[in-house]
Amino acid sequence: MKFREEVFAADAVAPGDRGHGVGRELLRRTEARIRAAGGRQVYIETSSRAQYRPTQGFYRAAGYLREAYLEDFYRPGDGKLIYRKVLLGPDGLK
Ligand SMILES: CC(C)(COP(=O)(O)OP(=O)(O)OC[C@H]1O[C@@H](n2cnc3c(N)ncnc32)[C@H](O)[C@@H]1OP(=O)(O)O)[C@@H](O)C(=O)NCCC(=O)NCCS
Repeated sequence: MKFREEVFAADAVAPGDRGHGVGRELLRRTEARIRAAGGRQVYIETSSRAQYRPTQGFYRAAGYLREAYLEDFYRPGDGKLIYRKVLLGPDGLK
């Protein structure tokens, strides 16, 4: 089995530039590269802490669904949330 991996640095958007579509555009370009490389799904992870609720909302808004929750993964009270999105091919099919 062959795996292809792309890493999206979610915290690439500087605090003063957030909320203006930069993250959405970065994610769109990353997904396009993954698709072009033959990838058909994307996994994204983040912390479950309240501080990351905006990030969780950003992923949901981009069409990501929660796939797994690993309780106390990082430390007690700080779990890992894993989101997944199935990408459509150029023909609109999965
Ligand atoms: C998460 C992050 C990358 C999003 O980038 P951004 O440029 O601020 O997001 P965008 O402006 O492209 O937002 C796209 C959509 O996501 C959703 N969204 C964005 N910020 C949101 C928030 N605070 N709460 C809920 N939804 C949000 C909205 O639906 C938004 O679309 P809209 O503005 O048309 O409503 C950025 O906020 C960030 O760097 N956060 C801090 C670092 C971080 O949490 N890193 C994750 C480590 S895993």
